[in-house]
Amino acid sequence: MRCSSVVGGSAAALWLGLAAAAPHKHRAPDYVVSKQRADAVKEAFQFSWDGYYRYAFPHDSLRPVTNRYADDRNGWGASAVDALSTALVLEEWDVVDQILEYIPTINFDNTTTEVSLFETTIRYLGGLVSAYDIINSPRHNLKRISEVETILTQAKRLADNLKVAFDTPSGVPDNSLYFNPPRQKGSTTNGIATIGTLVLEWTRLSDLTDDTEYAELVQKAESYLLHPKPALGEPFPGLLGTNVQLKDGQFVDGNGGWGGGTDSFYEYLIKMYIYDPARFEEYRDRWIAAADSSINYLASHPTTRPELTFLALWRGRELRFSSQHLACFDGGNFILGGLTLGEQAYTDFGLALVDGCHETYTSTATGIGPEIFSWQDSERPLNASNNPPPPEDQQAFYDESGFWITSSNYVLRPEVIESYYYAYRATGDPKYQDWAWDAFQRINETCRVGSGYSSIKDVNAPDGGGFDDFQESFWFAEVLKYSYLIHAEDAPWQVKADNTNEFVYNTEAHPIRVAGKN
Ligand SMILES: *[C@@H]1O[C@H](CO)[C@@H](O)[C@H](O)[C@H]1NC(C)=O
Ligand SMILES: *[C@@H]1O[C@H](CO)[C@@H](O)[C@H](O)[C@H]1NC(C)=O
Ligand SMILES: *[C@@H]1O[C@H](CO)[C@@H](O)[C@H](O)[C@H]1NC(C)=O
Repeated sequence: MRCSSVVGGSAAALWLGLAAAAPHKHRAPDYVVSKQRADAVKEAFQFSWDGYYRYAFPHDSLRPVTNRYADDRNGWGASAVDALSTALVLEEWDVVDQILEYIPTINFDNTTTEVSLFETTIRYLGGLVSAYDIINSPRHNLKRISEVETILTQAKRLADNLKVAFDTPSGVPDNSLYFNPPRQKGSTTNGIATIGTLVLEWTRLSDLTDDTEYAELVQKAESYLLHPKPALGEPFPGLLGTNVQLKDGQFVDGNGGWGGGTDSFYEYLIKMYIYDPARFEEYRDRWIAAADSSINYLASHPTTRPELTFLALWRGRELRFSSQHLACFDGGNFILGGLTLGEQAYTDFGLALVDGCHETYTSTATGIGPEIFSWQDSERPLNASNNPPPPEDQQAFYDESGFWITSSNYVLRPEVIESYYYAYRATGDPKYQDWAWDAFQRINETCRVGSGYSSIKDVNAPDGGGFDDFQESFWFAEVLKYSYLIHAEDAPWQVKADNTNEFVYNTEAHPIRVAGKN
């Protein structure tokens, strides 16, 4: 385990008196390509794209059971924009052409429904900036595309409409907006995930357009998360509460976790350092504080399977033993931090978290993990009000699996396969490819229906317990991309184990080119 006061270099380097800033070199493992598996993922991409294009395009999302559409992301074609970076990575050129033809026609000035600053940033802005970066990367062979500058123009137009969100007394944005004309909804607080998951996309936009305003807006907002006040907002060093006031940037609670509402704030701290180590050292230091506190205070082992590791939630300094599919990105994020900082302890802890999330898949009837799960911690007082046993009807499941299901649906989320991907890139261990392939086959068996893939109601019913008739746009952006990359040939956007990353992934799995590599 890492000493929490050591910052900026491997323990070994400091011990030897070496410069803490020396680059950390890992040897990259050998990777094995499986063309057959990669092609099977392409088949799934093409199948769901065809269904979307036929029945839903240019609306946001496909309802695959009834062949209808939904405009759940302001009607700008969320699935098309979210699919573009994946189509580029999979080299699905016909789909790339269809989406590139569409992008210039999107009217980002107009929508009739409420706009989420966060969702719009990670899906649309991230998707556009990533496509621009991939197409412009030196080893890409798409130079023929003339529409490429339009992608950036559209990204800028969208961000210009979103900018009004930051016009608050503190600069902490209102996450909820309306357009025509752009204006705030009037929220009084915002959460740390929706404040802290803008900084990569907006900083990149500034760097690409030579207009510093976008970066300044998001970094000002982030400053309240890097220096949380008052003390209740930081119950453990680096681990924060959730809600922050727009009027003064002060925290109003000390309740948090690595799950929904807070998760990607932590994720982006280390990713900003990868994006530009010169500008984002402070973000790295805050990631280290959060990671060390997580290892020291949150690591938890279930009574029935004490070899498994999950991360608890906190209410102030009191823990709750519950986690989510969303939180399963944590293993991958610890591994990425370990590789970046040359700290094997973070990588090892991340691999343990990956094992725990793997168990949430292999234990259910479908082989897919649930949305929310709980366990009883083996090291804290049993049956305390914050550490209860499972409900009776889940006792047998808990005895075997080490967790019980508190919300049983699966909405085509990527986080477990995403963390397998980082585990594979760090270790080269083919077991992670097999885990990803197994998960992908199970999702294909259970969720493929009608013209695409659908959210299901119950991962522990053999047939998935029924369909919600909804295909989230992140199915294209994330699940299909990570499922493909783990079996695919090396490429500039593949995660590197030796600290030579040319791209860093936003939380929607859109690869963003790291600063100074263009
Ligand atoms: C904006 O959207 C509304 C509702 O769909 C539509 O009536 C209007 O024509 C649109 N305006 C523009 C400029 O596209
Ligand atoms: C905790 O509660 C369960 C069920 O309520 C009971 O079976 C078990 O013996 C209790 N354990 C302890 C250590 O008190
Ligand atoms: C996915 O399901 C389809 C339809 O059942 C099948 O043809 C295809 O081979 C499956 N792919 C994988 C990877 O299992």
